[in-house]
Amino acid sequence: MDSKETEYKSKSGKIKIQSPSNIAIVKYWGKKDIQIPVNPSISFSLKNSVTKTTIDYQFNKDQSDFDFIFRFQNNRNKTFEEKIHQFFIRINSFFPWLTQFKLNINSDNTFPHSSGIASSASSFSALAISLSEIHQKITGEKIQSELVSEIARLGSGSACRSVYGGWNLWGQTEQSPNSSNKFAVNINNQIHPAFQNIQDSILLVSSDKKAISSTVGHQLMENHPYKQGRIQQANNNINTLIDTLKTGDLNSFIEITESEALSLHGLMMSSSPGYTLLLPNSLNIVQQIREFREQYNIPVCFTIDAGPNMHVLYPESNKKEVQEFIQTKLVRYCDNAQVIHDEIGEGPVAIS
Ligand code: DP6
Repeated sequence: MDSKETEYKSKSGKIKIQSPSNIAIVKYWGKKDIQIPVNPSISFSLKNSVTKTTIDYQFNKDQSDFDFIFRFQNNRNKTFEEKIHQFFIRINSFFPWLTQFKLNINSDNTFPHSSGIASSASSFSALAISLSEIHQKITGEKIQSELVSEIARLGSGSACRSVYGGWNLWGQTEQSPNSSNKFAVNINNQIHPAFQNIQDSILLVSSDKKAISSTVGHQLMENHPYKQGRIQQANNNINTLIDTLKTGDLNSFIEITESEALSLHGLMMSSSPGYTLLLPNSLNIVQQIREFREQYNIPVCFTIDAGPNMHVLYPESNKKEVQEFIQTKLVRYCDNAQVIHDEIGEGPVAIS
């Protein structure tokens, strides 16, 4: 038996991890170097919108490079295999055993494709956690959660905020001394009860594939005429949001959330080339939500990711009225009346 073979405590096994997607309130938009954000962002992890990833690992003494198969919903997916290959190159230094184990990866999402729910956040966080767990089984070393977040970031920026439940901050900001551009930190101990049970109903305005990926959108920020202004705006919003989340100020929350969502789309429209991802029905929903809030004084607002679908956010205490409003006034703007009711969740778990 060669020495490498005897080093490993476990030579084969199986691990299954469930990890959530997240929705950002202050948006990460623009990056430099290897997935370093140009501004800090804050999000919360979702409860029902999750990726479930299973990895079978098997030591192979004759192997000297990555050897893996990736299946999404039981079908081999070459596009994602290529992304994972790039990811493995970036993270190989954390997991030297990666080139000596054959991996069979299976992944599944609880939410539909192109639903406006970030699948790269849930899938790369699930992968980072799974590999960290396998690392512990093989070597006996535990990988600290900040490093797990850093590893997830190297797959997809927003994935670093999905390795914990609740509210998370990614990116350096003076107000939070332990914040970092390399990994996200959990800020649940700074959250007022008003935001601890926040609800997110996702309205599927269109299920078509996005015309422009987030990766291209981030690149277009590099020479964007409003780049410096955007960085300033995001930093101001982070400072205000950290206070708002502490004090439970719903009006301030609504103002920041909607301004961030529309600024993100404004940046897309004013980039070169400019593009629009919002659809007429996305704007119909904006108008309806604002009218409803005004008329009934219910603290409901919207946020939007890089697509036309709308996230309706509201406190748990207003669930009944808001879901009724969605049913009577907003589903008409959705593709096939599709709405996914989700809420803040507790983060990744190992499943059997
Ligand atoms: C609009 O994390 O998907 O959802 O780092 O290139 O994988 P990559 O981008 P990604 O960008 C997410 C952008 C966003 C805002 C956010 O989640 O903060």
